[in-house]
Amino acid sequence: MEMYDIIKTKRDKGILTEEQLEYVANGCADGSIPDYQLSALLMAMFINGLNHDETVSLTKAMKDSGETLDLSAISGIKVDKHSTGGVGDKTTLIATPLAAAMGVPVAKMSGRGLGFTGGTIDKLESIPGYRISISTEEFINLVNTNGISVIGQTAEVATADKVLYGLRDVTATVDNMSLITSSIMSKKLALGSDAILLDVKCGSAAFMNSEEEARELGQMMYEIGLSFGKKVACIISRMDEPLGMAVGNALEVKEAIETLKGNGPEDLTRLCIELAGMMIYMSEKAATFEEGKASAEAALKDGRGLDKLRDLIRGQGGDESVIDDPEKLPGAAFSKELVCACDGYVNRVDGMTIGTASMHSGAGRREKGDEIDSGAGIVLAKKSGDSVKKGDVLCTVYSNDEARLLDALEEAAKAYEIADSKPEKAPIIIDRIGI
Ligand code: URA
Repeated sequence: MEMYDIIKTKRDKGILTEEQLEYVANGCADGSIPDYQLSALLMAMFINGLNHDETVSLTKAMKDSGETLDLSAISGIKVDKHSTGGVGDKTTLIATPLAAAMGVPVAKMSGRGLGFTGGTIDKLESIPGYRISISTEEFINLVNTNGISVIGQTAEVATADKVLYGLRDVTATVDNMSLITSSIMSKKLALGSDAILLDVKCGSAAFMNSEEEARELGQMMYEIGLSFGKKVACIISRMDEPLGMAVGNALEVKEAIETLKGNGPEDLTRLCIELAGMMIYMSEKAATFEEGKASAEAALKDGRGLDKLRDLIRGQGGDESVIDDPEKLPGAAFSKELVCACDGYVNRVDGMTIGTASMHSGAGRREKGDEIDSGAGIVLAKKSGDSVKKGDVLCTVYSNDEARLLDALEEAAKAYEIADSKPEKAPIIIDRIGI
């Protein structure tokens, strides 16, 4: 097989075979295909597209190009949850304990974040003692004994995706639905769960800006998941402003604990109940989605979800007393409030700008490998629809570096738009696919 012929086929709008896509994925993984040929193929794929069968084949080939996990030693229907990510997204810390509390086996591998705030793993690492790197054997044992384990991605999954994603990033070929779908689904499928719940975010602070794009991506990932014999469901959720009030690692853990105590912000609580309810239903621990949601709500109300978070932290060597005293989580030496300059209503809090401000504070990475300041970030006091008076606090910025604090504060000020009239508040859940 020649890479030249594969590129030419796609350049001329031809259809690639399963064998050709396997050849490409293997050549990525073992480094035998040079970047210039891979880049040319990516551009041809970007321009001429991939059909359903090609997307399935590329997903399979990328999944098989790295390690795959065998979770068969865990009984029950294992549901993985994937979010396309966004500012203040701490749903894993809330929805997975709620689902685990109702008997869903949660075996989750999560990643770190680049930019904005950290990923789930950075958030969990802000809990003193929490071990994110444990053996697969311990991981499986924890799920069997505690019902939940969340660890950093140890396996070298979907090796070809790592190579292709790196090239897409620098060749303007990221935003193609088939390429995004095969990239995300190859990694999810490699992790061995029986069911996959997708949370596709949509809005100015998300990867997909329009509802139409988010629906298209959700539908494609849903169909590809089904082609692999998995149960799949997808929620399309709004992400124009940060989710909840806290953005930053330890700050988000605190908010997750408060949410599991029943004191969470409304948007975050609603979305987490929806996600946990869906996980409970997909794992066949409830007969209907509505019943799943009701059980998730019950686990939130009576504290079983909070107890599961405690089990999770204890199981992985973390200091579980942070549940009772969240002030034990890392803090920040410096903080400053952003104050409103006029009376009116908050018309908009731009999520992307708050994300950038949070990164300036030290809560996110500018470059891969950057150290994270666990105590840094932003806590919003006002979001869209809130009335404000001159002098009210809009948000507070935290950092352990005074210069970074000032940079973050300056950026955060750009996120707030104040208007004379109260804006309409759009619901957090836009749509569901597969339910
Ligand atoms: N996230 C991924 O993992 N892959 C993409 O292509 C886009 C977002």
